[in-house]
Amino acid sequence: MTRFIHRVPLRFLILSDIHANGEALKAVHADAVTRGFDLTLCLGDVVGYGPDPNEAAAWVSTYADVVVRGNHDRACSNLSDYDSFHPLAQHSAAWTKEQLLPCHVEWLAQLPRGPLQVDNFDLVHGAPDDEDRYLFDAEEAAASLRHAAEQVTFFGHTHVQGGFVSRRPTGSTAALRFQTVPAQLTLEEDSLYLLNPGSVGQPRDGDPRAAYCIYEAHTSVAYFYRVEYDIRTAQEKILAAGLPEELAYRLATGR
Ligand SMILES: [Fe+2]
Repeated sequence: MTRFIHRVPLRFLILSDIHANGEALKAVHADAVTRGFDLTLCLGDVVGYGPDPNEAAAWVSTYADVVVRGNHDRACSNLSDYDSFHPLAQHSAAWTKEQLLPCHVEWLAQLPRGPLQVDNFDLVHGAPDDEDRYLFDAEEAAASLRHAAEQVTFFGHTHVQGGFVSRRPTGSTAALRFQTVPAQLTLEEDSLYLLNPGSVGQPRDGDPRAAYCIYEAHTSVAYFYRVEYDIRTAQEKILAAGLPEELAYRLATGR
């Protein structure tokens, strides 16, 4: 388990599910720079679906301070098969494996499984109790929160920005979704949180803009953002690569 201890205020840029979308990654990075951050954390699925697996792996391996692996990272670095993937994901995983440089395959293969502790919060790809579990509803989140080691766990995998809160003393768990962004969430001291920054490269929550989060640990405030990016170029690259057309079209709808 990795533990980073700090004694100064830090702002953490939290990215998830970049999915080899170089255009979205560039836009998110440029936007985050204007808001300011100290360390970059990545919740996995650096590759898969998108047309820029080498660019995404190069960027994350260079600039991210802590990374947990995602299911696509495992599949594209030969750590697991992808028989259970959706046909679109299978197609893209096979294509990605052909494209990836050996150094990036090696880097993906050594990524650690979550949870990883950073400061006083945890990072996972899917859920605290299972890196491959999807947390789509409050009931699933409540069950998974019983395994959370920290008050705050950041997760990805669903490509849905927001997350869940379990409030004390009732223990009732509710979904967190934002009607407008930027959104600012001040964490309550005696509540538990599962927070999802959303997907950089393939949002599935109905908003096609790239998603990310900045967490200010010393004030317990999480900021959620969406960024316009050059979707048309990303789509053209997907089609030019011979990847399934649906992977290009879904970027415009965020579904
Ligand atoms: Fe993903």
